[in-house]
Amino acid sequence: MAKQQQVVHVPSARAVRSSFQSLVALLIASLVVAAIYLRESNDQLFQYWTTQKDPAGFTTTSCNLFSGKWVYDNKSYPLYKEKECAFMSDQLACEKFGRKDLNYQFWRWQPHQCDLPRLNATALLERLRNKRLVYVGDSLNRNQWVSMVCLVDSVIPPALRSMHNNGSMNIFKATEYNATIEFYWSPLMVESNSDDPVNHRVPDRIVRVQAIEKHARHWTNADFLIFNTYLWWRRRQMKVLWGTFENPEDGICKAVKLPRVYEMALQTWAQWLEVHVDRNKTQLFFMSMSPTHQKADKWGGIRGENCYGETEPVTKQGYVGDGASPRMMSVVDSVLGDLKTRGLNVQMINITQLADYRKEAHPSIYRKHWETVTEEQLANPKNYSDCIHWCLPGVPDVWNEILYAYILQL
Ligand SMILES: *[C@@H]1O[C@H](CO)[C@@H](O)[C@H](O)[C@H]1NC(C)=O
Ligand SMILES: *[C@@H]1O[C@H](CO)[C@@H](O)[C@H](O)[C@H]1NC(C)=O
Ligand SMILES: *[C@@H]1O[C@H](CO)[C@@H](O)[C@H](O)[C@H]1NC(C)=O
Ligand SMILES: *[C@@H]1O[C@H](CO)[C@@H](O)[C@H](O)[C@H]1NC(C)=O
Ligand SMILES: *[C@@H]1O[C@H](CO)[C@@H](O)[C@H](O)[C@H]1NC(C)=O
Ligand SMILES: *[C@@H]1O[C@H](CO)[C@@H](O)[C@H](O)[C@H]1NC(C)=O
Ligand SMILES: *[C@@H]1O[C@H](CO)[C@@H](O)[C@H](O)[C@H]1NC(C)=O
Repeated sequence: MAKQQQVVHVPSARAVRSSFQSLVALLIASLVVAAIYLRESNDQLFQYWTTQKDPAGFTTTSCNLFSGKWVYDNKSYPLYKEKECAFMSDQLACEKFGRKDLNYQFWRWQPHQCDLPRLNATALLERLRNKRLVYVGDSLNRNQWVSMVCLVDSVIPPALRSMHNNGSMNIFKATEYNATIEFYWSPLMVESNSDDPVNHRVPDRIVRVQAIEKHARHWTNADFLIFNTYLWWRRRQMKVLWGTFENPEDGICKAVKLPRVYEMALQTWAQWLEVHVDRNKTQLFFMSMSPTHQKADKWGGIRGENCYGETEPVTKQGYVGDGASPRMMSVVDSVLGDLKTRGLNVQMINITQLADYRKEAHPSIYRKHWETVTEEQLANPKNYSDCIHWCLPGVPDVWNEILYAYILQL
């Protein structure tokens, strides 16, 4: 059990009998909560309001879910079995593809100040009844979507769910609940020449930073939107097209440097949300960067090695690798801050630090590879290791547990 940080505790019913006194207690609680809000950044803080059995007393617990440590816990993890998930992806099924050390499945994220609520798939489905939960972004968001589908699939009889893929949209439906959990492919969020859900490996990447409607019309009305976009931007500059992909020769193309071009795209995204999202209906989330583990010397390993062969998380508290970009993180932070001043709240789910510890949790060579692996690569496994995505069950399950904590709270 982790220690619960109790901010306000009104223990005895006698002490707060009259409704006036309850009101005073509530006022004090609000003040304390407000004080905490001032002390910490809003986005970092997660509030638990728990009504105790005593009808007059209540406890408020506040907690930064993103600051904590990994605890080995093979009793309560994994949350589902790789083999038992009908919708597992071959990109992420590390056990199926020969990984022998399975410890990556047995870690629980322990925030310093509280416990994460254990994900109850039935309770989540109840919450999603007649609703759409949509992940929008790149393969890391798809990774998290597969995790979510596996988490809920474990409590649904096969006859009562379906999967439907249509272009960029992938829809998992729990029919009894009339609930869908969807994934929409748009790796750069705005329009780009990498939008084809299958053939998106183009050598010369081009974005239309000012255009998003082609994608957004498919997800704007969802009840829960979970965005991400990061890795596809990690280059020095990006070609930007003013014009259409149908007639690019009529348009104008120019290279724009990072992180400015990323900021332009996120501003287009933010402006779309500001105008089109129904604030009374839709809850918005942004997944922070998922870090990569390409350079073992960053965590004290051998120079030239990567995540291949790693079996343990990094234990050094506060470890920061080089697989994430602080500059891009602060762009996201400021775009979200700007939206907030316009009355639209997008909750950042800050998984960068917690995932940075998990150098051992990537598929490395234990996944289906789309291109044939050459003899030379076979002789040097690290050369074709995937140190970007995450094995399932694994780290993205925890991201979803954090998301679940917010969804239940709302
Ligand atoms: C994300 O969380 C980490 C760990 O708590 C913190 O150091 C970092 O500042 C946070 N980043 C943002 C943008 O909130
Ligand atoms: C959990 O791990 C401990 C220590 O490694 C081991 O002794 C135990 O058998 C494991 N339990 C299960 C259920 O795998
Ligand atoms: C999960 O949630 C369902 C529906 O709210 C509830 O009936 C059930 O008891 C919960 N299970 C656990 C283990 O808490
Ligand atoms: C099913 O859910 C959708 C939203 O995903 C909603 O528009 C529709 O009204 C729901 N159907 C029923 C019968 O409630
Ligand atoms: C696929 O999506 C397109 C565009 O949204 C739509 O017109 C079409 O009806 C969908 N097809 C199926 C089989 O759902
Ligand atoms: C949102 O809810 C408020 C208060 O119930 C209402 O006044 C407002 O018209 C609603 N806005 C929309 C866009 O439905
Ligand atoms: C593969 O690994 C070997 C040995 O570590 C290295 O010399 C070679 O450059 C690598 N090849 C590629 C294509 O990365």
